[in-house]
Amino acid sequence: MVATNDDGGCCMNKIFKQLKIRQKIFLGSFVLLTIAVIFPGALFAVDAELGKKIVQDRCASCHRFSGEAKSRFEIKAPDLMWAGNKYLRNWVTSFLQGKEENLYQKNFRWDQSRKPEKHIVVSKKEAQAVADYFFKKLIDPRVKKNALDLSRFTEMEATLGEQLYKEHSCNACHHTKEDGKRVGSRHSASFVDAGNRYNVDWVYRFNSHPPDFTPHSGEFVADVSAEGLRFITGYIMTLGVADFKFYEPWKDKFFKEASVPRGKRIYKEYCSQCHGASGRGDGPAATDLNPKPAIHAQMALDKEPEDYLFNVVYYGGKAVGKSPFMPYWGLTLKPQGVADVIAYMRKTFTGQTQTAGAKPEGKSANALGLCPQSRKTAQAPGDFYNLKNPLEPSKKNIKKGKLLFTSKAKPLACKHCHGMKGDGQGGKAINMAPPPRNFTCQETMKEITDGQMFWIIKNGSKSTEMQAYRTMKDKQIWQLVHYIRTLAK
Ligand code: HEC
Ligand code: HEC
Ligand code: HEC
Ligand code: HEC
Repeated sequence: MVATNDDGGCCMNKIFKQLKIRQKIFLGSFVLLTIAVIFPGALFAVDAELGKKIVQDRCASCHRFSGEAKSRFEIKAPDLMWAGNKYLRNWVTSFLQGKEENLYQKNFRWDQSRKPEKHIVVSKKEAQAVADYFFKKLIDPRVKKNALDLSRFTEMEATLGEQLYKEHSCNACHHTKEDGKRVGSRHSASFVDAGNRYNVDWVYRFNSHPPDFTPHSGEFVADVSAEGLRFITGYIMTLGVADFKFYEPWKDKFFKEASVPRGKRIYKEYCSQCHGASGRGDGPAATDLNPKPAIHAQMALDKEPEDYLFNVVYYGGKAVGKSPFMPYWGLTLKPQGVADVIAYMRKTFTGQTQTAGAKPEGKSANALGLCPQSRKTAQAPGDFYNLKNPLEPSKKNIKKGKLLFTSKAKPLACKHCHGMKGDGQGGKAINMAPPPRNFTCQETMKEITDGQMFWIIKNGSKSTEMQAYRTMKDKQIWQLVHYIRTLAK
């Protein structure tokens, strides 16, 4: 690892930085002091007071700013007594200046009118004064700070959150956008830009028990675990946020400090019951399982991508498109335990056993990258088999397909099996039977229709390592198909 200047190495840079900060603080205090002398009792207090007055004069005829939660049918507009916890400040000021879309696209009181009304607009200064009032005075003690730490939210958690969101009917009353298209219903609040609007702690608290905020209003209590609520809430908070910065545990400190001896012990205590004491897939629990536990002893786990290993061990087989017989270990082992057991596996299972000649059928039909390649893949159902790629084979689509193929496809990029060049010789392909398709082989590829590829990518090829990419958007699959077509020579 390259040494960074985090703590160990001191340097002039750091001292300069501190000096600069001190200077700024000094200057800042000076300016504040001057203002305070010229306008006594100044600054935020005044803005909050001004905000309070604006709210009393111009908002209270519709909104409530204190009291208990009430049914939508007894109020004129959304309750705001928790406004200081609910929103992000920038959104409030922007909304009040008329720069945001209506949240209730069929009118908040849909029982009275089907048309949304234009919200009143205030000046920038007034909007800021109202925001000051919200964030100082309208605080709901039920909302716990840092109930959900978004800086530790992973991309897999967002994917699982999206699945739960869809499984638990959220789309039936709320809507989001995918590829610029509306998904779900406009009945209640829009989540299109949710990540730029809400305070995550409020959303988490709301989702835990909606009637605490909007009783008798058509709201819905979902049967989801605390962990599941965390996933759903985090997912909502990614919506509309360009380049949401996901946490990558495999790049964190505890991964670098992972211990092989601790990992060895964890493997014995938790993994050997299925995977066997020496990773041969012959643990006592394996007899009743189909698919069988992976045979780690035959795999080059040191060459598997770290994010994939973390995801399959932490979130379980199902999360990465494999069998739920591979349990999710995150809650049992915690991130450190998962890092430890991965360190042990990477050190121990390097694929050596099989290259030493355990596979006599080396040149058989299972050899990698043959051309032509024998193919027993089931044919897609009629409707799909004959589908033509609906996208243009434009440079942009091919480029997007390539990006998915080489890095972005979740849970595992195609190149790890099909190879960087598409020749079916990726790092994970060793010992795979049947082997991954060799996309560079024209003779084999000309037999395979667009619709067939689409179907297999979406649903996987049964009893083979070609897994289903169920959460992938149709458009992305068609981009992949275009890219794959460029590989055959
Ligand atoms: C004529 C009634 C009316 C008045 C006056 C009014 N509002 Fe609203 N307000 C609404 C309605 C209705 C909505 C829901 C609109 C939508 O987004 O679809 C709303 C939405 C809001 C929201 C977003 C609520 C949510 O759903 O999360 C905020 C914040 C807000 N108003 C603040 C204010 C402030 C501050 C004022 C005074 C400057 C004000 N409103 C004046 C009716 C009113
Ligand atoms: C049957 C319709 C319905 C379903 C299903 C539903 N909701 Fe809602 N949701 C509502 C209503 C009604 C409100 C209250 C706001 C309002 O009056 O429209 C609400 C409000 C919310 C709010 C607060 C929005 C705001 O700006 O105040 C969040 C967050 C939310 N729902 C999340 C969810 C999640 C997550 C799910 C799925 C687990 C879900 N909802 C399913 C009807 C529904
Ligand atoms: C209850 C049985 C069981 C236990 C216990 C278990 N696994 Fe698994 N594991 C499986 C099965 C079954 C598969 C194969 C899933 C498939 O192919 O769809 C699997 C697959 C895997 C894979 C994926 C390999 C690949 O093909 O990419 C890894 C890595 C893994 N297990 C690691 C672990 C670790 C680490 C532990 C202990 C913390 C563990 N497993 C405990 C049953 C188990
Ligand atoms: C874990 C290894 C693995 C990964 C990752 C993987 N594949 Fe495959 N793929 C295979 C194997 C093995 C086969 C051969 C299956 C068979 O013979 O039925 C295959 C076959 C295919 C086929 C051929 C279907 C047919 O009818 O012949 C297509 C198309 C394909 N994969 C596309 C993809 C794409 C696109 C990705 C990435 C989004 C991907 N694969 C990721 C292992 C993998």
